[in-house]
Amino acid sequence: VHKRPLAGRQVVVTAGGTKEAIDPVRYLTNRSSGKMGYALAEAALAAGAEVTLVAATKRPYSPAIHFVYAPSAKEMLSAVQKAMPTADAFIGAAAVSDYALANPFEQKVKKSQPDEHLVLDLIQNPDILKTVGQEKKAGQVVIGFAAETQNLLANAEKKLASKHADMIVANDVTAPQAGFDKDSNQVTLIQEGQEPVSIGPKSKQAVAQDIVAHLVTILDR
Ligand code: C5P
Repeated sequence: VHKRPLAGRQVVVTAGGTKEAIDPVRYLTNRSSGKMGYALAEAALAAGAEVTLVAATKRPYSPAIHFVYAPSAKEMLSAVQKAMPTADAFIGAAAVSDYALANPFEQKVKKSQPDEHLVLDLIQNPDILKTVGQEKKAGQVVIGFAAETQNLLANAEKKLASKHADMIVANDVTAPQAGFDKDSNQVTLIQEGQEPVSIGPKSKQAVAQDIVAHLVTILDR
């Protein structure tokens, strides 16, 4: 086997939980650590790819990775769209907030007396994976994640179609050795017309290597 099977390939990876501004000092986010996305970026780099990592969560990464910090979903989408025209593959591992504030406050929100309620008006964010899937050019490979708490395979299969993805990495986030902020993961790879492939539980690095191996197979088809 080729030691650097992704040599000459460009791979764009998203990672981490997005941060949606409430006001200049506060934001809405989720439990994603970014570990899976960073592990994928490192695995693609080790396989010889030129890697752009668009991350909403900061962690250490190899200096050879092109790193773009994109805390919000909208910033992440524009960074991804900037990188995609020359890319061979997209791996959307980020936990993108489905909603952002419709109108973030321009100044720090003060406690208001006597009303104890503060109502935040949320509006749906763009779906980055779906947008990339819709815009993908011939030969580009799009891989998404599906974090589910029930009906894992059925929901992942729906996502394969709705996001125009070539593969969905289905992740039962209720499994003891899988999911948010863990060092290990247990996933099932779903592709159109193929038997599901179970991976793990094992380290996120090892899971990332397997996902990259599947990416190589899809690119070589
Ligand atoms: O629809 P759902 O959020 O369950 O799909 C998960 C997949 O979609 C992940 O790959 C995630 O990165 C991506 N996603 C996205 N933009 C959103 C929501 C999810 O790219 N706004």
